This record gives sequence, C-alpha cells and structure tokens, in this order.
Amino acid sequence: MDRPSATEREPGDPGDPGDPGDSTGRGDPPGPAAPGSPGDPASGDAPVGASVIDTRGLTKRYRGGQLAVDGLDLTVPAGSVFGFLGPNGSGKTTTIRMLMGLIQPTSGTARVLGHPMPRASRAVLPHVGALIEGPALYGFLSGRDNLLRYDAADPVADPRTRRARVEAALERVGLAAAAAKKAKAYSLGMKQRLGLAAALLQPRELLVLDEPTNGLDPQGMREIRTLVRELAGDGTTVFLSSHLLDEIEQVCTHAAVMTQGRLIAQGAVADLAAGARGRLVVTTPDPGEAARVLKEQGVADVVAAEDRVTGEPPERDLAEVNAALVTAGVRVRGFVVERASLEDAFVALTGEGFDVAG
Ligand SMILES: Nc1ncnc2c1ncn2[C@@H]1O[C@H](COP(=O)(O)OP(=O)(O)OP(=O)(O)O)[C@@H](O)[C@H]1O
Ligand SMILES: [Mg+2]
Repeated sequence: MDRPSATEREPGDPGDPGDPGDSTGRGDPPGPAAPGSPGDPASGDAPVGASVIDTRGLTKRYRGGQLAVDGLDLTVPAGSVFGFLGPNGSGKTTTIRMLMGLIQPTSGTARVLGHPMPRASRAVLPHVGALIEGPALYGFLSGRDNLLRYDAADPVADPRTRRARVEAALERVGLAAAAAKKAKAYSLGMKQRLGLAAALLQPRELLVLDEPTNGLDPQGMREIRTLVRELAGDGTTVFLSSHLLDEIEQVCTHAAVMTQGRLIAQGAVADLAAGARGRLVVTTPDPGEAARVLKEQGVADVVAAEDRVTGEPPERDLAEVNAALVTAGVRVRGFVVERASLEDAFVALTGEGFDVAG
C-alpha cells in the first residue's frame, strides 16, 4: 500500500509508541517520539537537535542487482522543512519507501520518530502523513468519497467529525470545487492534491511528501509551497523530495543532496549554498573588453552574454578588479557578487550539472 496510515494499527492497540519487540527502545536518547510522546502536541517541544528521521548506512539493492541507495546517513532535525534533492533515479523514492516501512533495506538502519523501521511501523505510521509516488486512489469514486474512505479506514478517526475533516482537507489543497468529480477524471496535479489531502486528514508529527509538486502547474506549485510553510509553522516536520533545486531553495530550511544512490551533502540550506562561492557579475555595454580584463585579473570561468559578464570571483580585492575595468575603458554599469544558489553548491559538489544518472 502506498500510503501508510492508521489502518496499520490494530484495534485496541493502546498506541504505545514503544516498539513492543524493541527492548532497547526505552534506553535510547530522547527524541521527538520518546515513549509516550508521538501525537502529543507537546512533542513540538522536542529537544533542540532531536531528529525525526535518522538513518545509518541505509542501503537498498533491488533484486535485479540495482544499487538504488548506498550507505545513507541521513539526519532530519525536528521542526525542519527538509528537502531531499536528487535527479531522477538517484534513490529518493527508494529511501522514502524504506523510511515508511514499505520495503526492507538490504542493510543499515532507519529510525523514524525515534523508532526502528520497518519494525515499529505499527506504532510510528499513525503519526506520519505520507504522499508517495502515484497515490493509490479509487478511480470510480469522487475525490471526496476517496477521502471519506481513507478516513473511515483510520480506527482512531472519529466518524462524527469525518465530513468536516474531509471538507477541510479538500479546502486546504484547493480541491473543494472538484470534490464531486470521479478521481479517474482527475489530472495528474489533481490526483497529487488528493493524495496530499489524504495525508492531511489528521494532524501529523511528520509529513513525508515524495515530489509533492509533480504534475502541478506553477500556480499549483506555489500553493503547495505555501501549504508546506503553513504546516511547518504549525510545528510539523516536513520531509519532501524534489528534483527541482529552486523549489527546495524556496521552501526548505534543510536539505540533503543525493546522486546515484549516495548522499553527497546535507545541512541547513543557507550553509550548503554558502559552501559554494558566489559569482561576480559585471553589467556593461562592453562585454568583450570586460571579459578580457576580468581574465587578466584572475577571474576564472568567464562567461560573456550580451551585457552581462560573469565569472568566479578571484581571491584579490574586488575593488582592484573594478578599477582595472574602468582603467581599461570598460563602461561598468553594475558590479556585484551574486549570492551562491543551491544549484551552484550542487555543481560545486558534483562537478557537473543536475542531470539524470544512467
Ligand atoms: N522496484 C525496483 N526494482 C528495480 N530497480 C528499481 C526499482 N525501483 C527503482 N529502481 C531503480 O533504483 C534507482 C533509484 O530509483 P528511485 O525511484 O528511488 O529514484 P528517484 O530518485 O525517486 O527518481 P525520480 O526522481 O525519477 O522519482 C533507479 O535506478 C531505478 O531504476
Ligand atoms: Mg521518485
């Protein structure tokens, strides 16, 4: 099943987050889901530095031999909006499936809300809302009826407030007007929104969203970003995957970068971008002459395009570089070092563009 939900919990389960079979669980360092706390609003006060997702050497080799995820050490801090970034085929969905207990790792460990997965799935999943590639929907039911059905499958969901919950979720993802339409007639973006609505039926400690803006138009992408920020504002940790660098940069506080199954960087977005040097940008009607002078001044990777000449800032004082341009008769209209983007960081880390791996 694609969307883990409270249906995984047996009726009568007291909801003890401790894995019944995990005798070491109680001795673990307190996390946001220390025994007794999942679902507890007080969990928003998780100790600073607590992680809601923690993997060690997490590895998945598919039966065909494909090494999809290779020794992943991932730490997602509580309260973060965490971007899981990587080109197509880099192992994002495979990682998410392991985190949600949907597939077994080949080796390594994964803890979610402080508990080992997939062993503690039953205790953990009710506190996690998930949207994973291609949400499973009943095509012959309307969007609204799909949600009513999901909600009805949740043993902890109060039937008396079901309608209100479903309407609120539809409203939240912008599907209210299309709620009566059959799901099979939904566009990709509408299906995506419906999957998201299902993940939002209950308040969650953690939301895991696999490419939540996949199939959405720019307006829809903006709406999802706003929604993610709102949810984070309510104290929910949001883990979202994307292959869109600027999307991650706009909405995430933290990010991890995957390429070919391996994690090549993780941390606060600002720190990741700061790891890459910005670019010197000179605006001038004399690009040819400007490019020549900049190279002479030690600027590397000079690129001239129309009235913009860019390059890697040299170690020396930039005032001297500017003066050299002016002395050479270059009409300088703009001279700035643009802040490095996450994309610059990615290129610096991998030495290549953000392309699909073979
Ligand atoms: N069920 C499977 N059996 C065999 N190989 C698989 C399976 N699922 C994925 N793979 C392979 O594992 C690698 C990682 O795939 P995965 O779906 O995790 O990537 P992704 O980062 O989610 O990509 P995308 O951005 O396209 O969603 C790919 O090379 C893919 O072909
Ligand atoms: Mg994927």
